[in-house]
Amino acid sequence: ADTLGGAAEQSGRYYGAAVAPHLLGEADYASTLNREFNSVVAENVMKWDATEPNRGQFDFSGGDQLVAHAQAQGMEVRGHTLVWHAQQPSWVNGLGGDDLRRAMLDHIDGVAGHYAGQISSWDVVNEAFEWDGSRRQSNLQQQLGDGWIEEAFRAADAADPQAKLCYNDFGTDGINAKSDGIYAMVQDFLNRGVPIDCVGFQSHLDANSDLSSYQANLQRFADLGVDVEITELDIGGSGSAQANAYRQVTEACLAVSRCTGITIWGFTDRHSWRADDTPLLFDTNYQKKEAYHAVLDAL
Ligand code: XIL
Repeated sequence: ADTLGGAAEQSGRYYGAAVAPHLLGEADYASTLNREFNSVVAENVMKWDATEPNRGQFDFSGGDQLVAHAQAQGMEVRGHTLVWHAQQPSWVNGLGGDDLRRAMLDHIDGVAGHYAGQISSWDVVNEAFEWDGSRRQSNLQQQLGDGWIEEAFRAADAADPQAKLCYNDFGTDGINAKSDGIYAMVQDFLNRGVPIDCVGFQSHLDANSDLSSYQANLQRFADLGVDVEITELDIGGSGSAQANAYRQVTEACLAVSRCTGITIWGFTDRHSWRADDTPLLFDTNYQKKEAYHAVLDAL
């Protein structure tokens, strides 16, 4: 195959990109996306602040635009993200106890319910752990206690029984204290029948990141009985060092049968959240970089 999506599909996987729907009007942006990728995720427009700017008033305009584009192109759609400590609408600030719980559950019901049947996998909860493997002391954790994550997964399962439900985080690029903490949570959820299907590894990396236990880490989660997905890959740097890191991540996913696909966080260096870096597969003029060829070769 001569595209990322086509090559990934040969092993039953997807190759996706995070998309900002307002950029779809840029001709090279849309044509590159449509040609290369068979999955998309919203970079921002399905987050809490975008989808529920006022309590109980949902705005699905951006997400609907993305889903329509994806469906017209035959692409899968990942969902990102139902509950996160960041990019919450301001009305959530200061909500306490049962009121925050009600707001979280209503939000999940509203968004996952709206997109029910159209999402391949949802990042139900994003970034809830610290580097040392303990829980992040977010408003959710402080107001609702340890049970909030499983409450979120149960609500997502009720709202969209078809989507796979993922826990997603960064800094989990190997076997370390943080991934150990998440591993223990997933094991506990599976033991107690809390609905969880997948773990997302964001993989915001640099060319010199230590990837020595990257594959082994994916494999240990897969061995627990969940799918693993590389959900927000981007790798700072340039040239061969960057290309080699991209190759290693690609090979790691392909070596793990339950690694179902890879999403890069953007695709052109023209539009990356890492504004002072060049972490993606296409340059600012939509030309294929060395890293692109390394990925295509490895898929
Ligand atoms: C980032 C977006 O790329 C930016 O446009 C936005 O300003 C902030 O969020 N981890 C995540 C993503 O899970 O949602 C973040 O996306 C990047 C880090």
